Amino acid sequence: MEINYQELIKYALSMRKMSYTPYTHFNVGAALLSADGRVFTGCNIENAALTPSNCAERTAFFKAVSEGVKDFAAIAVVGGPEGADELLYCSPCGVCRQVMSEFCHDDFKIIMAKSEDEYKVYTLPEILPERFGPSDLLS
Ligand code: THU
Repeated sequence: MEINYQELIKYALSMRKMSYTPYTHFNVGAALLSADGRVFTGCNIENAALTPSNCAERTAFFKAVSEGVKDFAAIAVVGGPEGADELLYCSPCGVCRQVMSEFCHDDFKIIMAKSEDEYKVYTLPEILPERFGPSDLLS
């Protein structure tokens, strides 16, 4: 499937505005593209008890899976401190990589973007080599 990276980044940038980050003031937006071309967005949602906090990527995955979608092509991630002039390349945390690994094939693309025109693209095995996945339990 043809992936429009810029379009996906645009969704992630707009979702970043919904971040709830009273503790870190680090705002992240994600846009997850399903294999059938739908986009599921997510932002990070923090919590006073800290550990219940959820990353933008997982918010997007859980929205999609809870709607019955489990086949994915790519995710765009944008993040940086609230109010900063420039975004960073925001690298998904280990927990989010493991959630990706549950649902995504080796060709799944992770787009880390600073803007619509500045981005890096990785595959899942590049950011989570030797992963423990469903096939380790279900074969
Ligand atoms: N965070 C994400 O939402 N995604 C990432 O890829 C990295 C970190 C969030 C978690 C927390 O709310 C804040 O950014 C700082 O770690």
